[in-house]
Amino acid sequence: MTTRLVIANWKMNGDLALIDAMAQAYPQGSKVDVVVVPPSLYVAALLAAAKNRFQVGLQDIGQHQGGAHTGELAATMAAELGVAAVIVGHSERRSDNAEDDAVVAVKAHRALEAGLMPVICVGESIEERQAGQAEARVRAQVQAQAENLVGGRAVAIAYEPIWAIGTGASASAEEAVAMHRAIRHALEQIAPDHADGIRILYGGSVNAENAAGLFAHVEIEGVLVGGASLDTDQFAAIIRAAEAAQG
Ligand code: PGA
Repeated sequence: MTTRLVIANWKMNGDLALIDAMAQAYPQGSKVDVVVVPPSLYVAALLAAAKNRFQVGLQDIGQHQGGAHTGELAATMAAELGVAAVIVGHSERRSDNAEDDAVVAVKAHRALEAGLMPVICVGESIEERQAGQAEARVRAQVQAQAENLVGGRAVAIAYEPIWAIGTGASASAEEAVAMHRAIRHALEQIAPDHADGIRILYGGSVNAENAAGLFAHVEIEGVLVGGASLDTDQFAAIIRAAEAAQG
């Protein structure tokens, strides 16, 4: 069975105290994969605290390989430090920074060439869902990443309906499963030789209460957790739910 992947996305939150708390709370020897993604300033401190018990990721990466791009970070720098994964195309970056599918594809490519796992976020708005366009929208976002999906390197797709992010209103397990199946179908068409290795995560108001219900479905191969990942007890409970589903 696919190893479940649990990712904490701290967004623009967290501090050294949270890093300490996470290091204390994190269980030894989990049978699921855990990646904690702090603001990039805290990556080095979190890597030191993690002591290889969990992996550390970035919330974004620069489009360039290096050079005169003030304020940007290169994927190779993250890889040198020991960062394992990079979230790309989060809906907050798509809206706050006008990142379109083409920009997201370049960032995912930069991650891959540096040996990092891109966690490519896709998801529809509430208007698109109400108009019956959710699946078409998400399939188009996945299709736009085709070049990054065919190489057989580690990639994850995170389905995050925009209306479920930070609202407390998670998609139902049925809604998530239906979209995960559509994404799986798209992956099989785009990358028939490698689709099996691409994990599909759900994100959007995942918490300690709803995690087990999501993980009860084999289609939900992981979760991307925002708000609830800032509470170490809740995050630990989500990891336990993933472990229980892993069997
Ligand atoms: P949320 O955020 O869990 O706070 O809804 C998820 C995300 O944006 O990745």
